Amino acid sequence: MLSILALHENTHLIDGCVEILNEEWTRSKAARLHSITKSCSTLPYSLVLVENESTVVGYCRLAKVISDAKSVLVESVVVGKKRRGQGLGRSVMEMAEQHAAREGFQRVYLCTKDKQGFYQHLGYSFCKPVNTVGAMMLETCDCAPETNTPLPVED
Ligand code: ACO
Repeated sequence: MLSILALHENTHLIDGCVEILNEEWTRSKAARLHSITKSCSTLPYSLVLVENESTVVGYCRLAKVISDAKSVLVESVVVGKKRRGQGLGRSVMEMAEQHAAREGFQRVYLCTKDKQGFYQHLGYSFCKPVNTVGAMMLETCDCAPETNTPLPVED
């Protein structure tokens, strides 16, 4: 059984998140902790995909879109290496979208260098750039797909 949990409300999941993030994007544990423990009830907001209530299998983070309080940026989407290709990436995205919608966000943006096929398969499409506050700095997304469901499609 899968659930999506807020990291700041489930700090016992921090080590599992560090593990799957560092499997993909190696950083020191201190640097990783510095970034993921910023998770709070306002953005940035880390979401953890958990199997059977305790095993961390996926992660993503919701961050701010500048001057657009109704939108959110999804970043650092990752599934544990051994668990890829089993539908968990789709679950991370769909459950994060549902979570964002419950929090009042109407649109989801993201940036990707090499996973366009994955996101397009999930219903995202390219849109105009938006300014976001990502993990480390202010940045401009120049390939920000958008979701088509359950959130509205942009012009
Ligand atoms: N192109 C087209 N379709 C794809 C691709 C692809 N590259 N990858 C997966 N799919 C399809 C699958 O076939 C599946 O289709 P189906 O549901 O119709 O059967 C669907 O997408 C869902 O695939 P999952 O099995 O859920 O994907 P997975 O669990 O492997 O997770 C992920 C995908 C998150 C990209 C994983 O491979 C991963 O962690 N990669 C490394 C980290 C990474 O690159 N993250 C994205 C960074 S971009 C960002 O964070 C915004």
